[in-house]
Amino acid sequence: MNENRLREAIAQIGKSLYDRGLAHGSAGNISVRLADGWLMTPTNSCLGRLDPARISRLDASGNLLSGDKPSKETFLHIAMYRERATAGAVVHLHSVHAVAVSCLADIDPNDVFPPITAYAIMQVGRLALAPYFPPGDEALAEAVRKLAGRHHSILLANHGPVVAGSSLDAAVNAIEELEQTAKLLLLLRGQPLRLLTPGQVAELNRRFPN
Ligand code: 13P
Repeated sequence: MNENRLREAIAQIGKSLYDRGLAHGSAGNISVRLADGWLMTPTNSCLGRLDPARISRLDASGNLLSGDKPSKETFLHIAMYRERATAGAVVHLHSVHAVAVSCLADIDPNDVFPPITAYAIMQVGRLALAPYFPPGDEALAEAVRKLAGRHHSILLANHGPVVAGSSLDAAVNAIEELEQTAKLLLLLRGQPLRLLTPGQVAELNRRFPN
């Protein structure tokens, strides 16, 4: 896809996320890798009302070449790309159910979701919890960098999810699955669960490597 088509795709997906309540206000950001840098949504922009022409264009060092001032989470996105050579896009949201799970005291930071559904295993994989730092803080990007080599899905404590995918569609599908899984988990809280077995999880990972 050429750069103009990618700009339009970011704006379309941003609007779709916003229209379905997965993004609100100026929360969330989206980036796509180019051959020589990145496209990044501007800081304080609403994902529902992005102007493709004003999306920030960054060079391979993360410097702004054109467009509006980039997201304050640019460091965090670049940390994901640097640790994941196959990442073509990164999406960060403040989607309600994932944020709710990010505030729970009793979650496993190495594997936030118990294995409740096949699609969570296939698309979200093993979700890690990154410790809390303020939005845009370089320490947050560093915490993500430490996890990104082993996890393409990371939940920022008391903040929200960030997911890398091979393409924009793959990253969005995965973060939507993450949000859906968080909602299911909250619906099921306090109920006895029939989890997928380790053998069933291993079989899914064999058939659908992510
Ligand atoms: P930006 O508006 O700078 O992209 O930040 C929004 C956000 O989601 C912070 O975590």
